[in-house]
Amino acid sequence: AAAAAKFPLTVTEVAGQSVVELAKKFGTPLFVYDAAIVAERVADLAVFDVVRYAQKACSNLAILDVVRRSGGVVDAVSAGEIQRALAAGFKPGFAEPPQIVYTADIFDREALELVAKHEIPVNCGSPDMIDQYGTVCPGRGITLRINPGFGHGHSQKTNTGGQQSKHGIWHSQLADCVERAKRNKLSIAGLHMHIGSGTDMEHLSQVCGAMEAAALSVGSSIHSISAGGGLPTPYREGDKKVDIGAYYELWNGVRERLAAAFGHPVSLEIEPGRYLSAEAGSLIAEIRAVKKMGDNLFYVVDAGFNNLARPILYGAYHPMAVAYASGKSEGATQPVIVGGPLCESGDIFTQEDGGYVRSRDLPVAAIGDYVVIGVAGAYGAVMGSNYNSKPLAAEVMVEKGKVHLVRERQTFADIIRGEHIPK
Ligand code: LLP
Repeated sequence: AAAAAKFPLTVTEVAGQSVVELAKKFGTPLFVYDAAIVAERVADLAVFDVVRYAQKACSNLAILDVVRRSGGVVDAVSAGEIQRALAAGFKPGFAEPPQIVYTADIFDREALELVAKHEIPVNCGSPDMIDQYGTVCPGRGITLRINPGFGHGHSQKTNTGGQQSKHGIWHSQLADCVERAKRNKLSIAGLHMHIGSGTDMEHLSQVCGAMEAAALSVGSSIHSISAGGGLPTPYREGDKKVDIGAYYELWNGVRERLAAAFGHPVSLEIEPGRYLSAEAGSLIAEIRAVKKMGDNLFYVVDAGFNNLARPILYGAYHPMAVAYASGKSEGATQPVIVGGPLCESGDIFTQEDGGYVRSRDLPVAAIGDYVVIGVAGAYGAVMGSNYNSKPLAAEVMVEKGKVHLVRERQTFADIIRGEHIPK
C-alpha cells in the first residue's frame, strides 16, 4: 500500500544540505531542487512507453537535463519552452517517440515558425491549429488533444476539461478534425487527453474510456495515445501516493484493445509535470518580522507570491517547516500566519480551502530563522514575477551531494532591462 506523506515541522537540511548554509551562501528566497527525486519520479513511471515531462511545472534547464538523463522526453507549450528543450539537449524531429512535442491551443507566429524550422511534432488543441500547421508542414502526422467533455483539477482553475475549459478539441468535433487534417494532407497519428492538474485517480480513470472510444472512431492511423498529466502529489500530512501500477494497468488495457483493433502496436505516453518535480523542490525564506495583529501572530518572510503563487491563486496548501538559524532541531509550536513582503493583503502562504487565510501550528521562531516551504518544485519558480520590483529568486540543484547554482538571482539591472524613459 502507498505510504502516507510525512512533513516535519522543523528541519535542519533540505536535499541533504544545511538550510542555514544554503541561505548564507546563496541568499533568500531560494529554491532548492533535489535531482535524485526528479530521477526517481521518472523511474516510477518507466512502465509507460514514454514519460513526457510537462516542463511548464519547472523548466529550469538543469531540471530538464535531469529528466533527459533519466530517460524522459519533454512537452513544450510555447516558443520559449521549445527553445528550452533544445538548450537542454533534447533532439527535435519525428523520431519515435519524438523528444519534443509542442502542445497548445494556439500557434503564435513564433511557435509556428519554430515547429516548422526544427521539425517539432505538434499536438493540436484547436481545429484552427490543424489548418495553420498544414500550411507550413503538409504531409506530417499530428496528434490531437481532445477535450472529452469532462474535467477535474485540485481547483476549478486547473480543470482543463468540459465546456468551461478553453483547452483541446471538443470531442464531438473529432470526426470533422480528421477530415480537416485530410484536407491539409496531415494524418492523425495519435490522440491526447489531459483533463486537469492535481486531480485524483477516480477522475483520471474516466479518461481511459473516453480515449478508447475516440481512438476507435479515428481508426488505424493512430499509433500513440497520451494519458496526459494531472497525477496528484502529496501536499498534506497523510496524503496518499498514487498507485502507478494500477493506473498503468487501466491504460495498458486501453492500449492493448486498440492495438488488437488496429493490428499494430500503440505507444502509451504519460505527461506529468507536478509528479516529477513538485516533491523535489523547497523554497527557503528568511523570517524578517514577527508581529501580533490582535489575536493573530504573523511571521513575515522575504518570499512572497512573486516566488510561489499557488496559495494566492488557488488557496493551495503547502507544507511548511522552520529551520532555526541556531541549528536547533526542534521547538514548541504556536499558531501563526505566514505572509510575504508584497504590498498586497493576499500575500499569505498559509491559505487553505480555496483562499482563506488560516493560522497553522509552526515552531516558535524569531527573526533570522527560516521558513522552508515544501513541495514547491512544481509551479513555483516558473510562475515567479517581478511584482513590487522583486528579483526572481535564485535556484540551486543538489545532485550527488553537490550544490549547483542553476539560476542566478536576478539583479536590479535585469529587472529594468528593456525599459526606456522617452526622451
Ligand atoms: N499536460 C497538459 C496539456 C497540461 O496542460 C498540463 C498542466 C500538464 C500536462 C501537467 O499537469 P500536472 O501533471 O503538472 O498536473 N499552476 C497550476 C497547474 C496548472 C497546470 C497547467 N497544465 C498549479 O500550480 O497547480
